[in-house]
This record gives sequence, C-alpha cells and structure tokens, in this order.
Amino acid sequence: MNINILAIESSCDETSVSVVRNGKEVLSNIVSSQINIHKKYGGVVPEIASRKHIEVIIQVISESLQEAKMTLEEISAICVTQGPGLIGSLLVGVNVAKTLSYLLNKPLIGAHHIAGHIYASNIDNQIIYPSLALVVSGGHTELVLLKGELDFHIIGTTQDDAVGEAYDKVARQLDLEYPGGPKVDKLSKLGIDTYDIPRAMIDSDDYNFSFSGMKSAVINIIHNCKQRGESIIKENLAKSFQNAVVEVLEKKSKRAIKDFGIKQFILAGGVAGNSELRKRVKNFEKIFDINVLIPDMKYCSDNAAMIGACGYYYYKKNIFSDPLVLNAKSTLSLEKILTRES
Ligand code: KG4
Ligand code: ZN
Repeated sequence: MNINILAIESSCDETSVSVVRNGKEVLSNIVSSQINIHKKYGGVVPEIASRKHIEVIIQVISESLQEAKMTLEEISAICVTQGPGLIGSLLVGVNVAKTLSYLLNKPLIGAHHIAGHIYASNIDNQIIYPSLALVVSGGHTELVLLKGELDFHIIGTTQDDAVGEAYDKVARQLDLEYPGGPKVDKLSKLGIDTYDIPRAMIDSDDYNFSFSGMKSAVINIIHNCKQRGESIIKENLAKSFQNAVVEVLEKKSKRAIKDFGIKQFILAGGVAGNSELRKRVKNFEKIFDINVLIPDMKYCSDNAAMIGACGYYYYKKNIFSDPLVLNAKSTLSLEKILTRES
C-alpha cells in the first residue's frame, strides 16, 4: 500500500508543502519564499515571517495537492515540522497540520527539521546505517551519527555561531544581501586566498566547531583596512573566509569518518549548497572508499519534500502525535525521536 504524506514546513522564512509517496517519490514540492521581504531588513524578522506564513499557507497546500493530483482524502498522514525553528513560524504550520489531521481523521506526525535535512539525501539515494551526516545550516552545525532509521547521535556541534549564520554575518560586512551565504560562495570563486583567517579548533581533539572567531577575523580585517584608508579586495576576503570554514568542516568530518569507521557520509542543510564544500566532501569517496550523499540543490535549502521523506520513517515506526496535543518547539532534541512521549 502506498503511503502518501502531506508534508508542511514553516520553521523559518519558507512556506513549503509537499506530497511524498513512500518517502521517496516527490509528487509535488511547492516552496513560497519570503526572502524578498526579509532582505531589506538584512535578516529574517520573526513577526513578519509568521504573518506571511499565515497569508500563504492555505494556497501553498492547494497548489501542492493540485500538482500531486491528489485530494486530502487520498492522503495517508499529515507531517509537519514541529521544531526547531522560529516559534511563531512553526506555530502556523503546526496549527494547520493539527486542524487537517483532526478534521480528516488522519494520523499526525511532528517531524524534526534536522531529520528532514538529513533524509533529503534519501529521496534520490538510499541511506545505509551506520552513516555519518554533516549538518550545516543557518541555525545548525553538527556531526551526526546515524545508527538506524531516525536513530541520531550528535558527536560534535558548534560552540557558538552556526556556519550559515557566520556566512550571513560576513556577507553583511561585504555589503551582500541576505541570505548572504550563496553570495559569499559566488564571490569567492573570483578571488584568491590572501587574508589570514584562523582555522578555529581545527586540531582540537573532538568533533566540535567554532565559527564566531572566523567571522570576527573578517570584521577586524575590514575595520583595520578602513582605519588605514586601504580598500579590501572583497573577492579575496570571501575566498579566504570560505577556505578557512571549509577546511575546518572537512578536517573534522575526516576525523569522524576515520574514528567511527563509517561507510557512508551525508551532507545536509542549506550550506550543503556551498560549491567548495560539495567538492571537498565528494572527494571523501576516493580518499576513504566510502559512499557520499549530497542532496540535489532543491532539497538543500528548507523545503517540505525533506520533511515528507523523513516523515515516512516516523509513519513506519508508528511515531504519531495527538492533534489535540502536538505543540511547536523552538528547540527540540534530535536524539530523542525514538523515545519521545508525544
Ligand atoms: O537549511 P537552511 O535553508 O535554513 C535553516 O534551517 O537554517 O539554511 C540556510 C543557510 C543560510 O545561512 C544561507 O546563507 C546558507 O544556508 N547557505 C549557504 C549557501 N547556500 C545557503 N552558505 C554558504 N554557501 C552557500 N552556497
Ligand atoms: Zn533548514
């Protein structure tokens, strides 16, 4: 029997609804982005984000069902991002999902946003276990060991800024519009690595990261140049920052691959769209003779198809939520999915 999941993602500034069959077949994946609204403020304004989700979510659901050629009655379950994310934004998706589940009497799944980013790799490929995922997004930087379906163990994390957050802050200093990560990436392709950016924690005896010092190094270089009346070469600064960040991510990932002896590496999250990171991680295939999964670009940034992809495993494991009880959570543990109570 086919399991058709209607998935809803509204954790930040994208309202997205997707219909995913059996965790693999993406029948529709509509993404309504608010980037054009937030970029004039230089970042996501939470109050505006939640209001915009309310305005478009019903329309996005209709379009998604239409494209999938499905009716609500044909849907097997409703799956929504429960957290982590901006609470006002999450609440919109969660309340719509609860209402649909209650009215249609369909099972409800409250999915973890990062589980979604990781399972994005399971859409066009097959995750095997144990596997290691490097999660890099606007709010997260984690090395995650996957022992089985939805069985996550965080082995390393950032001590301060998330990598996407550091990219966005550096982009602002370089007068690039929000979200700046992709723009820093693009600019770096025109530059050479001439500025000295510290590779924070690169040799530390663990799998943790720190990006705030790298971001501050960029800010200091810009300030010092200004004070001396010198101009900076933005392309070179972008390239130097990108090299430093990617080198640390690469080295810590390699250490974990070796230490845990894993056979598959997964790149996940919005920063998985980064050209240099994709290239270096792909090289792990040759270096370690392992299989590397990197999602298609459309499944790297926030989207509901990835939520439907992981939702299928919640469904298989009977991890459902009561539509009268499920609540949005701005912070939510990735490690407690298999043992949680509701
Ligand atoms: O996963 P995502 O879409 O949203 C969150 O869950 O945070 O990630 C968005 C983040 C932003 O910080 C954005 O600047 C960054 O991913 N990003 C990139 C690239 N594409 C997106 N950072 C560096 N290089 C890129 N190519
Ligand atoms: Zn995300």
